[in-house]
Amino acid sequence: MAIRKPMVAGNWKMNGSLELIKEMSGAINNVKSKEIDIVLFPPFPLVSSMVLTGVCTGAQTVSENEPGAFTGEVDAKLIKDLGAKYVLVGHSERRSIYNESNTKVAEKFARAQNVGLIPILCVGESETEQENGKTELVVSTQIDAIINKLGVAALKDSVIAYEPVWAIGTGKTASPEQAQNVHKFIRDKIASLDGNLAQGLTILYGGSVNEKNSELLFAQTDIDGGLIGGASLKADSFIAICKSAE
Ligand code: G3P
Repeated sequence: MAIRKPMVAGNWKMNGSLELIKEMSGAINNVKSKEIDIVLFPPFPLVSSMVLTGVCTGAQTVSENEPGAFTGEVDAKLIKDLGAKYVLVGHSERRSIYNESNTKVAEKFARAQNVGLIPILCVGESETEQENGKTELVVSTQIDAIINKLGVAALKDSVIAYEPVWAIGTGKTASPEQAQNVHKFIRDKIASLDGNLAQGLTILYGGSVNEKNSELLFAQTDIDGGLIGGASLKADSFIAICKSAE
């Protein structure tokens, strides 16, 4: 079975500063180990400053379009040229606040890979969808949008992040069992199309991860690390979460 290297990623959302970059990059560079991959997603204007610190960097979103008259949009190729390695696509806040459909997410996923970025495909259900037993249907549909447009092979150079919307920013973390069940569903779904790809695919959990719950979550068979929001803005917490993934 392919060995998957754990990954801990910090999504700063619309937070952060040059001071936080200095503090966080210093903390990360002090604990950097070959055992895990650490990635930070600062707001776009801080991407090049983050890259210069040596911390693996990602963009929180990119346009699905090639350069042109798209005022305010972020060009994927520019992000790549600035030295970023990853890009989030389909984060629940992009889907809900900025109305990004599964089709739009798939277009952004394709554009990211076209310029050499590694997309992290964010999937997850709302509280209502969970209560109505629709979790697997929602997550499956979100992943199918990529497979139907690009084929399952496109998932090889990607990461999936399962982020139940009801756990994001709420303090209501999925239990290790709940998260493991959905991660196993995702991996089994992809394994039905390509077993080797599925075994090598990194699947992160996100949604109110903190230093108290990360170790048990990351100990689950199909949870390969975390996509951290609020706790990634506090150096002590984020470093503790990274250490729990080793
Ligand atoms: O992308 C990660 C984020 O959505 C999770 O946020 O604050 O619940 O860790 P938080």
